[in-house]
Amino acid sequence: MNFQGKSFLTLKDFTAEEIEFFLDLASKLKIEKKSGKQKKRLQDKNIALIFEKQSLRTRCSFEVGAHDMGAQVTYINSSECHIGNEEALKDTARVLGRMFDAIEYRGFSQRNVETLAKYSKLPVWNGLTDEDHPTQVLADFLTIKEHIVKPLNKVNFVYIGDGRNNMANALMIGASKMGMNFKIITPKELFPDSNLVAECKNIAKSSGGNITISEEIYENVKNADVIYTDVWLSMGESDDLWKSRIDLLMPYQVNKKLIEACENKKVKFMHCLPAFHNKDTGIGKDIYEKFGLSAIEVTDEVFEGENSIVFDEAENRLHTIKAVMVATLGFDNI
Ligand code: CP
Ligand code: NVA
Repeated sequence: MNFQGKSFLTLKDFTAEEIEFFLDLASKLKIEKKSGKQKKRLQDKNIALIFEKQSLRTRCSFEVGAHDMGAQVTYINSSECHIGNEEALKDTARVLGRMFDAIEYRGFSQRNVETLAKYSKLPVWNGLTDEDHPTQVLADFLTIKEHIVKPLNKVNFVYIGDGRNNMANALMIGASKMGMNFKIITPKELFPDSNLVAECKNIAKSSGGNITISEEIYENVKNADVIYTDVWLSMGESDDLWKSRIDLLMPYQVNKKLIEACENKKVKFMHCLPAFHNKDTGIGKDIYEKFGLSAIEVTDEVFEGENSIVFDEAENRLHTIKAVMVATLGFDNI
């Protein structure tokens, strides 16, 4: 196994063994960081970080991870450079390809991240697109391994909420690779793309996994090991959709009743974050004023409760993103 020079665009491109390799490497790098004995595995590498959408966790993980490994980053906010408006992405890719050693991209179409990889000829890392969020899934799987004493292929994973956003897609891809028992619980209107579901069911056939898409809530959460949700309106979607999304998804909110319906005291609550669990955000306040809701996809009680592992999950973004950078740019130094 050697990932040197390889891009990380989607987990579709990796086998279960390769995904385990990234997770093991992340654990090793996490232990090294905590023991204060990090080796600079990416000394003097230059990394471009393109962000066409907002970010806290992903950007900080790439920046801190690169710094920990001895690399430099250049943050490129698309509103302050030519990407898209004055310069075609494939031209930007060829310019960056002459200056940098690797590129991270967060933006809209999955095709953009593929174009960057094709024309820059560098390792390109997907930091989130409308369709996928593969680095988040690595952090999620590492967190599950740390908290649940079962191999991944024995884990009952329930994703509930917007069933056809980047997180639902990315988790379904990752779960099908790892042979998990994976369910997306969402109203019919938000079912994931049928081609992707067919592709994942096909992958699950050979990994021993199981993929279920259903709008039935209570019968599907019983015995869940993980309840995962995400925002009901993703970056890039119009605020005008809030009302229809709330009308559709309110029964799918993660609250105490839903957690109790799992009949598993040890069930873990996960969320990629940011989350709307109270009125302490601009959007949360706005939704409260318009719709009288003090929480959206998850109640504050669950978010802050004993089943929640969301901040361990957020920390693991750093260790897993670092593993992706090291495996594809500094493989010989592992
Ligand atoms: N989970 C995640 O990708 O967070 P950011 O949007 O803050 O990067
Ligand atoms: N589905 C969310 C994920 C954020 C990390 C979004 O795209 O906004």
